[in-house]
Amino acid sequence: MPTTTTSFNHGQWSSRLAFILAASGSAVGLGNIWKFPYMAGENGGGAFVLIYLLCIILLGLPIMMAEVLLGRRGQQSPIRTMQTLAAEAKASRWWVLLGWMGVFTGFLILSYYSVIAGWSLSYVIQSAAGDFVGATQPQIGQLFSDLVASPQRLIIWHSIFMLMTILVVARGVSNGLELAVRYLMPGLVFIILLLIGYAISQGHFWAGMSFLFTPDFSKINTAVVFDAMGQAFFTLSLGMGSIMVYGAYLPKKVSIAKASIAVAGTDTMIALCAGLAIFPIVFANQLEPAQGPGLIFNTLPIAFSHMPGGLFFGTLFFVLLVFAAWTSSISLIEPVVAYMVERFRVTRLFACALCGGFTWLVGLGTVFSFNIWQDYRFAGKTIFDCLDFLTANLMLPLGGFLIAIFVAWVMQDEDVRDEMVMHNAVLYRCWNILLRYFTPLALICIFLRVVGVL
Ligand code: PHE
Repeated sequence: MPTTTTSFNHGQWSSRLAFILAASGSAVGLGNIWKFPYMAGENGGGAFVLIYLLCIILLGLPIMMAEVLLGRRGQQSPIRTMQTLAAEAKASRWWVLLGWMGVFTGFLILSYYSVIAGWSLSYVIQSAAGDFVGATQPQIGQLFSDLVASPQRLIIWHSIFMLMTILVVARGVSNGLELAVRYLMPGLVFIILLLIGYAISQGHFWAGMSFLFTPDFSKINTAVVFDAMGQAFFTLSLGMGSIMVYGAYLPKKVSIAKASIAVAGTDTMIALCAGLAIFPIVFANQLEPAQGPGLIFNTLPIAFSHMPGGLFFGTLFFVLLVFAAWTSSISLIEPVVAYMVERFRVTRLFACALCGGFTWLVGLGTVFSFNIWQDYRFAGKTIFDCLDFLTANLMLPLGGFLIAIFVAWVMQDEDVRDEMVMHNAVLYRCWNILLRYFTPLALICIFLRVVGVL
């Protein structure tokens, strides 16, 4: 990292753009390209997308600003930031639990994230080896089933991805991260646009469009709202300290609001484009939109198998997907690494190896949930489903809720105002009211509905 002005020597971003790039690197990942399309497919399309967009604007964006603000004011890992800020606001010391919960959530998410990123790694090799060229749709489906049925293969790819993450984090987060995001993300967007172009040329583009953007209000129920909310938190990396820890490295004078809008906007555009690239292929091939986590792996190779230059573009696509996952996984493990370095004065390498090792071990649960343990179910869910539900639908929104309460109700208003650097008083008020009343109430209502009270 370029300069070192924070108390624990974590360093600081060189500019606003650097922060935007890093935070977008965290936000844009498997959540946009792998998870958003299959969640939309499972929840009936348009109605889900509509609620997801509302959640991004009304819940995600205000909470993102609050989370960046906490990080920049606290200047340390989420755990110590919460300690410092609770003391500053003369609030209960228990607020530190918010930091701890974030660290734990990140750890759980990374455990399965790494397994799915491993699928993408495997697809890089399969695509480069020409496995998709001229393959029929059943053959492509078979390639995916073979992969997830093999614990050995999944473990190898999961291990490689985890090692990649540890290696980068051990060297310090911004070395190379800014560069990677600056050049690779536009590349990813380019290939997604190319796929959309392909969909248009093949003639099923409008079927995809109408699936994603024509809401069927009869499909809206508690489960759809709950999933859309969880996905909004997951895709923006909110509620567990990733955005907070990146906020800690944000220079003081930069406008938090503008930076947050840029990050949330980029993230949302990429998710919508991924949906537009995938659903036309689903409809053109009479595939099942609600097929779950295998969706992109069963659909995109079909496009690559037919289009000119498919081998090249297919390989490049999966390479870029791995990079997108990589810049997200780094941010999942950074909060705990930052904490260990501050607290125990261990080297980054040691902290990374220890945390990465544990996460890897927990990830085996996800690996086996696709094959030898697929029949072990808790309330009908596999281990992977449970982890996903627990983190995205429960822990991240809870983290976001507590962040909103802390910033809007616990911190001194002049501290918030001072840190926010928002010159437009009306906008500041809007944000503050959203965060103070709307966000917590909306989250409480959703939770109460889910437990059947409302
Ligand atoms: N936002 C990332 C994605 O969409 C996942 C993530 C969640 C990263 C939470 C950090 C924290 O892939």
